[in-house]
Amino acid sequence: MARKKLIAGNWKMNCLLEEGTQLAKGIAAQVKQNKFDCDFLICPPFTLLGFVKKCLRGTKIALGAQDVHFAEKGAHTGDISPLMLTDLGCSYAIIGHSERRVDHFESNELIQKKAVAAHKAGLNTVICIGETGAERDEGKTIKVCQDEIFGSVPDDATAKNTVIAYEPIWAIGTGKTPTAADVEEVHAAIRKALAKKLGKATANKMRILYGGSVKPSNAAELLALPDVDGALIGGASLKVEDFIGIAKNACSK
Ligand code: 13P
Repeated sequence: MARKKLIAGNWKMNCLLEEGTQLAKGIAAQVKQNKFDCDFLICPPFTLLGFVKKCLRGTKIALGAQDVHFAEKGAHTGDISPLMLTDLGCSYAIIGHSERRVDHFESNELIQKKAVAAHKAGLNTVICIGETGAERDEGKTIKVCQDEIFGSVPDDATAKNTVIAYEPIWAIGTGKTPTAADVEEVHAAIRKALAKKLGKATANKMRILYGGSVKPSNAAELLALPDVDGALIGGASLKVEDFIGIAKNACSK
């Protein structure tokens, strides 16, 4: 079965209300106007989810959060539960982004716990993995990615409720990307690890996105690789023409 590409924007901690609604409206208008052979997802900060949802009306663009707590509710000051996200119209949550693994000391165990809770509430997850520059230099890239797959992806993961995002940490926001051959090698190794964990049928259907300095000029090459099923985009998701340019270059009908 062919895997439909997913073009996902992670806005990170960017955009106030006016800027965020303009961006969402701009993307929605372009997605309506053009014919794309892909799915779209945008993940604004928590504060904008309700507003952005309204801007996406009449489109099939999915809404996602950038994190989620594992508990259903209760004494977790500052956290957001899975049901709070579905209540606002989210169908996805990003989990285990390297910025959370590093800034918030999130472990594989915690990420897996979040994924289980998200799936239970009906959310799909984008589970992020990827090596540091030092790990790459030491030749540990594939081992790090496989360990993160075994540690972070829950046993209940299916090709529907889970998307993997491979984001080499040294490529995030730096303008640097691995070579196409390196990206394909890592994605193929990730799919092998998924097959070991979840079975070959699930692994073959599961989408594996590439993230890290994706822009319109490199999207076509990266997204044409056999095991690359879309992109998780940071900086370039904050400009309508860049985000849509990536889809145009990689997923035009
Ligand atoms: P950039 O596209 O800005 O490199 O960010 C990638 C990323 O971290 C998306 O989650």
